[in-house]
Amino acid sequence: MLSNKRILLIVAGGIAAYKTLELIRRLRERGASVRCILTRGGAQFVTPLSLAALSGDRVYDDLFSLTDEAAMGHIELSRDADLLVVAPATADLLAKMATGLADDLATTALLASDKPVLVAPSMNVRMWEHAATRANIETLAARGVLRVGPGAGDMACGEFGEGRMAEPDEILGAIEAVFRGDAPAVTPSGGAPARNRPLEGRKALVTSGPTHEAIDPVRYIANRSSGKQGHAIARALADLGARTTLVSGPTALADPAGISVIHVESAAEMLAACQQSLPVDVAVCAAAVSDWRTAEEAGQKMKKDGGGPPALALIENPDILRTLGEAGNLRPGLLIGFAAETEKIVEHAKVKLERKGADWILANDVSPATGTFGGDANVIHLIDGDGVEDWPRMSKEEVARRLVERIAENFVAKA
Ligand code: CTP
Repeated sequence: MLSNKRILLIVAGGIAAYKTLELIRRLRERGASVRCILTRGGAQFVTPLSLAALSGDRVYDDLFSLTDEAAMGHIELSRDADLLVVAPATADLLAKMATGLADDLATTALLASDKPVLVAPSMNVRMWEHAATRANIETLAARGVLRVGPGAGDMACGEFGEGRMAEPDEILGAIEAVFRGDAPAVTPSGGAPARNRPLEGRKALVTSGPTHEAIDPVRYIANRSSGKQGHAIARALADLGARTTLVSGPTALADPAGISVIHVESAAEMLAACQQSLPVDVAVCAAAVSDWRTAEEAGQKMKKDGGGPPALALIENPDILRTLGEAGNLRPGLLIGFAAETEKIVEHAKVKLERKGADWILANDVSPATGTFGGDANVIHLIDGDGVEDWPRMSKEEVARRLVERIAENFVAKA
């Protein structure tokens, strides 16, 4: 698909610049040619030599180089490409793009270009969430600049949250999507063209994260869910135009932009928030809801009174997915659940599809060796009334995109 495509890759000054080396390799494996512009900041993280060796071309970094201008002027450099990719796109470079600054070769090439531009933002979570960056991203999206990521996770700066550059595979997927004619992820409120927002006018509900079931005012029952998969699905739904409500248990993730987020602690609160959000066209239950809660929450901190450890009496929590499936005329048009299994994955998931009255179940292996719980990747088997679809191992962002594309196709097929 990428054979003979010409990519102008602009590498700016972020720690994620090392990931672009892998991106170049993957692009070239697929037949694309890659020419690199390296900013002054970018050169602090990767060397021109690495980029030149991997791209098989010289690296451009100087706006005022007489020799470069003679060989390939900066205007020609930007026009000669089929697509401009900015990775990592730093907060600084995005701000310059949004205001039209042209004070180095990268910004000049971007301003002089009439070709599609794809940015892969990369920055600290606070910088990503800052109103200035949000406004710049909106401005760029409104001008048709395409975006992939950022994802959420541990950051090189030691913080956790959204702002981590998309992985090389995700950027590659987004580049392929551009050449296929489908835009990759854009900001939910960024005014992407209607053809890229097939869920415009639809309402979506997503549950995400763990629940905390109080034992006493300071202790609770919980599980290892990070919320990454549910949050990614909510973002992907919003990216395709759905008005999305995310009901989230306690997670370390930032609230995704452009989405209405309801924060809850317990399964009972999660159920109430979901019921309040009905009716919806599609609901995706990705939360790892605690199956049990204590029969009685102690009003005060439980003390060691010499009588040995207390016995915790547990009772079963409401099943949110099944309750939504039984909501009569408020039942979501398309009801999707997950099945977290550690053995007989598909077999157990088929039983869950029936038992919970869901339309689709995404079964995943969460045994510790897979690193799925809390990790960044997932292996999915999608089960619906017709059978089982085995998906390859992919990032949680990719799972979200693939699921949401399938949701959109489902609505088109039913329209
Ligand atoms: N689920 C839910 N409410 C619950 C329990 C689970 O909405 N109280 C949803 C989950 O969000 C998921 C699906 O049901 O979409 C399956 O969750 P899973 O933990 O795999 O199954 P359980 O119902 O807990 O069954 P078991 O513990 O027997 O595997």
